[in-house]
Amino acid sequence: MDMKDIDSKKLKELYLEFFKQKNHVVIPNASLIPKEDPTVLFTTAGMHPIVRYLLGEPHPLGKRLTNVQKCLRTDDIDSVGDDSHLTFFEMLGNWSLGDYWKEEAIKWSWEFLTDEKWLGIDKNKIYISVFAGDEDAPRDEESASIWRSLGVPSERIFYLSKKDNWWGPAGATGPCGPDTEMFYDTGKEPHGEDCRPGDSCGKYVEIWNDVFMQYNKTADGKYELLKQKNVDTGMGVERTVAILQNKKSVYEIETFKPIVEKIKELAKIKSPDENQERSIRIITDHIRASTFVLSEEIVPSNVDRGYVLRRLIRRSIRHGKLIGIEKEFLGDLAEIVINIYKDSYPELEKKKEFILTELKKEEIKFRNTLEKGLKKFEELARQVKIIDGKSAFLLFQSFGFPIEMTKELAKELNIAVDEKGFEEEFKKHQQISRIGAEKKFKGGLSDASEQTTKLHTATHLLNEAIRRVFNRKDIVQKGSNITPERLRFDFNFERKLTEDEIKAIENLVNEQIKKGLPVRREIMTLEEAKRLGAQGVFEHKYEEKVSVYIIGDFSIEICGGPHVKNTKEVGRFRIIKEEGVAAGIRRIKAIVE
Ligand code: SER
Repeated sequence: MDMKDIDSKKLKELYLEFFKQKNHVVIPNASLIPKEDPTVLFTTAGMHPIVRYLLGEPHPLGKRLTNVQKCLRTDDIDSVGDDSHLTFFEMLGNWSLGDYWKEEAIKWSWEFLTDEKWLGIDKNKIYISVFAGDEDAPRDEESASIWRSLGVPSERIFYLSKKDNWWGPAGATGPCGPDTEMFYDTGKEPHGEDCRPGDSCGKYVEIWNDVFMQYNKTADGKYELLKQKNVDTGMGVERTVAILQNKKSVYEIETFKPIVEKIKELAKIKSPDENQERSIRIITDHIRASTFVLSEEIVPSNVDRGYVLRRLIRRSIRHGKLIGIEKEFLGDLAEIVINIYKDSYPELEKKKEFILTELKKEEIKFRNTLEKGLKKFEELARQVKIIDGKSAFLLFQSFGFPIEMTKELAKELNIAVDEKGFEEEFKKHQQISRIGAEKKFKGGLSDASEQTTKLHTATHLLNEAIRRVFNRKDIVQKGSNITPERLRFDFNFERKLTEDEIKAIENLVNEQIKKGLPVRREIMTLEEAKRLGAQGVFEHKYEEKVSVYIIGDFSIEICGGPHVKNTKEVGRFRIIKEEGVAAGIRRIKAIVE
């Protein structure tokens, strides 16, 4: 097989085919917004949607799964611009849920990578790393010896520490374990002396990671053994395709090239210099990420996911300006991204209007202040060696510069930014802490998500409580919206509720919370869910399996989650407002304390 024939589409097909032949079932690609894992802001790997099964719940489709998952990671955002690091990427994965273990996982990875029937990559170019061992888990001699048995010489196997060879948890808690990683030797001249797989010398590119997910990290930092030994693997589509096509960087493969070309055209650049090349790459990466985030109906804002999106968009605009693009351009690029990916991700085409409108709004807004903000920044930079907190906050507040942008600008001029001072200013201005957003950004346990999870469970309780208080089955949900601060719930009812009725609903919800009812999730057919009297939107196909949340003997609803595990976690429920929104539709706003 000519390796160069393999594009992204072909690689994905081959991968799924390979693992189907090893008895894996293909599971669908999940949303970029983790519905199953409140510990992260975005889906950063294929394992997030299946966390509960890694923790031991049986998966309805069995113990061997595989898929292609869209992922967004912001930890590497500062490396974007080099040949291989990206924020948005597609990940191929295969999982063993307490089924096969190291031997099969490693052998199959090797077979898929090197066998002529599959990718046929030169065995001599593959380097391996395994876990060196520490107080939490032993040195992984088992994996190393499996690699050696496959013919990988010892000198190409590196034992690395937890920093390099341990995956997860992505947030503060959750499944994790030692891993073994596969690298490709690009043959590039290394920067730095002790160049080895896993460092930033640029010669060895990680293409695949087999995680032996045996532990669960608890909130107090302990590693407990999981109920079962899982395998969680992830292979980067873009990087692997670049290798198969013998390209120097991911930006030259077919899913990037049209975007890169368009940017060059808009900037009227034929042969970019090093700085221009970096800007082109940053814009390419960020517009891909922004388009996918927007397709999930996230809008730019100053908190959580919206903040990440805002950062990506505004940084693209700034880099556009650096290479001479003065007019609005992100919409044109987003259309190219949509075209490239619409077959694999139909949500892009479906949300096209929304994506383009929101991009335009944000671009207009930021273009209005960017020029003046840059002038202000330059003025400051001429006067001082450190941008103090007040000035950084002024740039944020009056000119819309995310702090990361101010830091980037400062770095270019070799000056510092007082980030602490910025945070203090920020808090003073009573805004939601961006420190929190930053933590979540890196994958820490997210306060906002925790709060919305509680409110989500409270919404289910409220939904049922209304029906029970009025003893009427015909009252159903007509709308729902949850922010970290409150829940909003619309339902059909003819008149204003009385004080007593509101109190009765509130009390009934609080009783369920006090009882400490377990919240369970079950997968069943739509037919079965209906038979059990589940509430919910019945827009699925009849034979399709649906996810159903059952709260004790009180409530049952079709829903994707996430929810708390026990109603006790919800806290005290309080209705703060009841009003009419349309003829026959009432709205309740409530909080949990
Ligand atoms: N979760 C692991 C990773 O992201 C394997 O998929 O590298």
